[in-house]
Amino acid sequence: MTNEELLRNPGRSDAPTGFASGREPLAFHRKLPGYAPTPLVDSQALAEALGVHRVLVKVESSRLGLPAFKMLGASWATYRSLVARLGHEPAWSTFDELRDALAPLGQLCLAAATDGNHGRAVARMAKLLGYAAHIFVPDDMVAARIDAIRGEGAEVTIVSGTYDDAVAISAAAQDERCLVISDTSWEGYVDPPRHVIEGYATIFAEVEDATDCAIDAVFLPTGVGAFAASGVAHYRNANAATTLISVEPSDADCVLESIKAGHMVEVPGPHRSCMVGLNCGNASLIAWPVLQSGLDWCIAIDDHRAEDAMRRLAAEGIVAGETGSAALAGAFAVQALGGGLQVGLDPDADVLVIVTEGATDPVNYERVVGRPPEEMRR
Ligand SMILES: Cc1ncc(COP(=O)(O)O)c(C=O)c1O
Repeated sequence: MTNEELLRNPGRSDAPTGFASGREPLAFHRKLPGYAPTPLVDSQALAEALGVHRVLVKVESSRLGLPAFKMLGASWATYRSLVARLGHEPAWSTFDELRDALAPLGQLCLAAATDGNHGRAVARMAKLLGYAAHIFVPDDMVAARIDAIRGEGAEVTIVSGTYDDAVAISAAAQDERCLVISDTSWEGYVDPPRHVIEGYATIFAEVEDATDCAIDAVFLPTGVGAFAASGVAHYRNANAATTLISVEPSDADCVLESIKAGHMVEVPGPHRSCMVGLNCGNASLIAWPVLQSGLDWCIAIDDHRAEDAMRRLAAEGIVAGETGSAALAGAFAVQALGGGLQVGLDPDADVLVIVTEGATDPVNYERVVGRPPEEMRR
């Protein structure tokens, strides 16, 4: 049985997003070790298969040394939290200078809950700064992802339950020496997740810099909705006529169900999608109003769509994991559900899909694609 669904947002309005679209995060990211803009691939084969004019694929399979886009939010949110603690914005150009400027804060620990990528990014940021890290993960996380987080030097606590349970437990880690850098928000905890959303803006700024093309539609993979909120802020602040579509797994579609209800609703677990980065039962409190007014459509999809999209991307030389393929999977699902023309996927449309991660579960990648990720290029 499928619960796939395509929903037009009845709450769409031109309400202000409440987020600036400044380039401050981009200027910060440029100073991090290993920064380079990620590729924007113009795929004719995908455009033909989708029946549109152009498909631009922003490939986040390798970002600041990690196989997902999440370092953009984790690094900026950590930086803003440290600056707030320091009480002033330090002057620095190299990372060594930043570390020196932060020395008065002493030894700290960064903590976060994760379904994989965000926690690894927080752990990497802690390692770069010489801090400890404590990462909380749900009990169904595959070993490769846990090992990757431990590989950053973090202590990992496996929480009995879902990602949402891990978030609840991680919240208690905050104390004088430990900063919780969460990508989701809740009552009374909004500043770091707000900066996470701002940090993701670098992706959209880079797209803007890499193409003159007026994007007609953007597919946004959506877990707690921080990433989608960043995309909404970018395009709505620019008053662009771009159609924005969230993509979620059909059994963890908390944004779609909230949009349908007109208020935030929980979609309880267990969430068993292979798109694990999207296995969230609650939208982020601060992302929600942005999504409610700024999204045009929501789609909830089954796992086979993600696997199909992984193979299509592999054929283009792009390594994309299950979650990373969700945006493209959403575009094909819109067509398959007969919503293409309504959503604007017509022969003139220029479409942006963001591949948000590489092969973070290499064993499953090889099972789906038929080749190990190391054999692939881009
Ligand atoms: C690879 C990947 N893509 C997309 C998302 C969704 O981001 P958000 O939870 O902000 O909606 C995540 C979240 O963990 C992720 O890891």
